Amino acid sequence: MNSKQFLIHLVSILFSIALAAKVTIAVESQSISLPGCPDHCGEIKVPYPFGITPECSLNGNRKFYLNCTQSSLYLNSSNLQVTNISLDGEVSVMNFIGRDCYNKKGVREEHIQSQLWLANYNVSSARNTFIAVGCDTYSTVNGYRGKENYVIGCVSSCNDIDYESFTSDHQSCLGVGCCQISIPSGLKNMTISLSSYNNHTFVYDFNPCSYAFVVEQGKFKFSNTSFQELNRTEKLPAVLNWGIGKESCDEAKKRANYTCKGNNVTCVAASNAAGYLCQCLPGYEGNPYLPDGCHGNGS
Ligand SMILES: *[C@@H]1O[C@H](CO)[C@@H](O)[C@H](O)[C@H]1NC(C)=O
Ligand SMILES: *[C@@H]1O[C@H](CO)[C@@H](O)[C@H](O)[C@H]1NC(C)=O
Ligand SMILES: *[C@@H]1O[C@H](CO)[C@@H](O)[C@H](O)[C@H]1NC(C)=O
Ligand SMILES: *[C@@H]1O[C@H](CO)[C@@H](O)[C@H](O)[C@H]1NC(C)=O
Ligand SMILES: *[C@@H]1O[C@H](CO)[C@@H](O)[C@H](O)[C@H]1NC(C)=O
Ligand SMILES: *[C@@H]1O[C@H](CO)[C@@H](O)[C@H](O)[C@H]1NC(C)=O
Ligand SMILES: *[C@@H]1O[C@H](CO)[C@@H](O)[C@H](O)[C@H]1NC(C)=O
Ligand SMILES: *[C@@H]1O[C@H](CO)[C@@H](O)[C@H](O)[C@H]1NC(C)=O
Ligand SMILES: *[C@@H]1O[C@H](CO)[C@@H](O)[C@H](O)[C@H]1NC(C)=O
Ligand SMILES: *[C@@H]1O[C@H](CO)[C@@H](O)[C@H](O)[C@H]1NC(C)=O
Repeated sequence: MNSKQFLIHLVSILFSIALAAKVTIAVESQSISLPGCPDHCGEIKVPYPFGITPECSLNGNRKFYLNCTQSSLYLNSSNLQVTNISLDGEVSVMNFIGRDCYNKKGVREEHIQSQLWLANYNVSSARNTFIAVGCDTYSTVNGYRGKENYVIGCVSSCNDIDYESFTSDHQSCLGVGCCQISIPSGLKNMTISLSSYNNHTFVYDFNPCSYAFVVEQGKFKFSNTSFQELNRTEKLPAVLNWGIGKESCDEAKKRANYTCKGNNVTCVAASNAAGYLCQCLPGYEGNPYLPDGCHGNGS
């Protein structure tokens, strides 16, 4: 073999290795979406039952159809941006924060109410907190649990001396500059309202605005820079819960559209949402919502 032949031979060996590697990768990488369906929007993975066209979402259902516009993902017919989808019944969104701002004379200059009105999702009570920030601030959350109207709220106040002391040591949300309450389960159609006792007239110099929002636990830490930072912030992350259908697992199993039908898949009740979720059995992984989406994780 001369050197030219050797080179050709070497190249062809390398080529077949590359080809073999590629084939192996293609076999091993499991799809997360239906065949022929896009599995991401920008950087965000979109696993089935979610999809970015009606045909690629479960039953073309409003609940699972997401709008992918310019590489950003939105819940259908809302301006809530989706940042992560978990097959355990969670979807992470960027939620708008409410604000209430006054000028030096105590005249309201800006008032933005934050609303989460969702037909198909519940706000996760386990993963979010309600927080209000400001020194002349009271805030309420108005919503529905079932048909019952439900109102909760908290008060936060401080003067400049309190402000000095929490800037030096306090870093927690205990009613001085910041208050928080947990969110009851099953709360729907939340409207966050903000108000003040003295229109921020006594605290205007260091705090002209109040803020309130539902936020994923751990994603907001109160500190002496919070007033400035919130002034520049439009949205913060929150977590919603979802489930398939409205039926329990036992009822759903009797129906033709039962979704957890693949091998090595089980059905569990959704948490903080109506309906059920599919899960791969222990020792299997993949997407349990796809036909035969679960595969052994050891092999
Ligand atoms: C998306 O929302 C719009 C407006 O509510 C509705 O008309 C449309 O049917 C929804 N799309 C899907 C696929 O559910
Ligand atoms: C998706 O969202 C964009 C921007 O909000 C909107 O213009 C478009 O009509 C939406 N498409 C669908 C199918 O809902
Ligand atoms: C998305 O959610 C999954 C499952 O909860 C989690 O493991 C992953 O870290 C999240 N990704 C991002 C970018 O938050
Ligand atoms: C606060 O502002 C509201 C609306 O701008 C006004 O009606 C009210 O009189 C003000 N109260 C005080 C104490 O300044
Ligand atoms: C909650 O909001 C959804 C979506 O906008 C709406 O369809 C539903 O009627 C609302 N429910 C109540 C009790 O206001
Ligand atoms: C905020 O508090 C930190 C200590 O936690 C301190 O180092 C810093 O100077 C304070 N910043 C302001 C603007 O007060
Ligand atoms: C925050 O924003 C409002 C208007 O959006 C402005 O009047 C105010 O001076 C800003 N600064 C602080 C520190 O809140
Ligand atoms: C399955 O079908 C039943 C009626 O046959 C319907 O009520 C239910 O919403 C469907 N479930 C899903 C997940 O589409
Ligand atoms: C997983 O599915 C295969 C094929 O149906 C079956 O043979 C196996 O017993 C299942 N494993 C478990 C743990 O049920
Ligand atoms: C929200 O939770 C309540 C209580 O758990 C439940 O009755 C309701 O159906 C849930 N809504 C959705 C859209 O899952």
